[in-house]
Amino acid sequence: MSMSIRRLAYGLGAEVLGVDPAGEIGAATLGQLVKAWEDHQVLVFRGVEWSLGQQVAFSRRFGELELHPLKYLRNPDCPEVFEVTNRLVNGKPSETGEVGRMWHSDGAYTVKPPTASFLHCRQIPESGGTTWFCNMYLAYERLSATMQGIVDQLEVVNDLFGSGKTTAFISGRDANKAGEESAVNPPVVQPMVRVHPGTGRKALFLNPAATRRVLGMNEDESDALLKLLFQQCTKPEIVYCHYWRPNDLVMWDNRCTNHLAPKDYDGSQIRQMFRTTLVGEPHGRYLAEPAGMAVGA
Ligand code: SIN
Repeated sequence: MSMSIRRLAYGLGAEVLGVDPAGEIGAATLGQLVKAWEDHQVLVFRGVEWSLGQQVAFSRRFGELELHPLKYLRNPDCPEVFEVTNRLVNGKPSETGEVGRMWHSDGAYTVKPPTASFLHCRQIPESGGTTWFCNMYLAYERLSATMQGIVDQLEVVNDLFGSGKTTAFISGRDANKAGEESAVNPPVVQPMVRVHPGTGRKALFLNPAATRRVLGMNEDESDALLKLLFQQCTKPEIVYCHYWRPNDLVMWDNRCTNHLAPKDYDGSQIRQMFRTTLVGEPHGRYLAEPAGMAVGA
């Protein structure tokens, strides 16, 4: 069966039919997948039964894999894999139970934000446990030309601890761990608009989990502009909601999408996902150059 694509929403997202990510993927099919990914930003495969090693091998076909910047979140057997789950881990609540509760793109708080992520579903609650995606190209393209001219000039401060009310991906952390995380992830400054190297299209690059302020603006100006832009990014017509089934694989491009994993399920039921993440291109700089720090070491 040859590969075909079924659009899942107006704004972004498509299902790939006729390709098994666990099987052999030739160069021609790989090229078709890259093209479909550029066209739709989020690709969905159903019924993918594989090991963590196979997930790593498939993901590697698209680029170099990242090790999670927080060492203790790396899978002990397969360090390129990061488990997102609310299950008990070593008899304790998982460290990743609250990952993704605010709109974000993965690693947006680093100077090399990951290009893309692959999330495979092992277990999902009876209902809910969804992941939402928004199209950051359309968020930019649907601004007026005047506003595009303004945001083209701006930079934002992105930080693992975002607004300070929650971390970019984990809330309710103990103070020592939060301190360590902050030390290896100092605030970064990034252009608010980025050009995708594959498509040449411009996308907004900001999110409420990590973006703390607009550089060079006072607090009132920054808050007002960010509020407007965050609303712009999540208008329903540019959003796709993924309702997971076990063995779904979803791959998204972090350079032109944001995503959200709301607490829309019964927390006594297990949600278990495995993520692999592609190393990104340099984007931005440290707000203050860190002294002798090896990020991800
Ligand atoms: C993530 O934010 O990378 C995970 C999203 C999810 O668990 O749905």
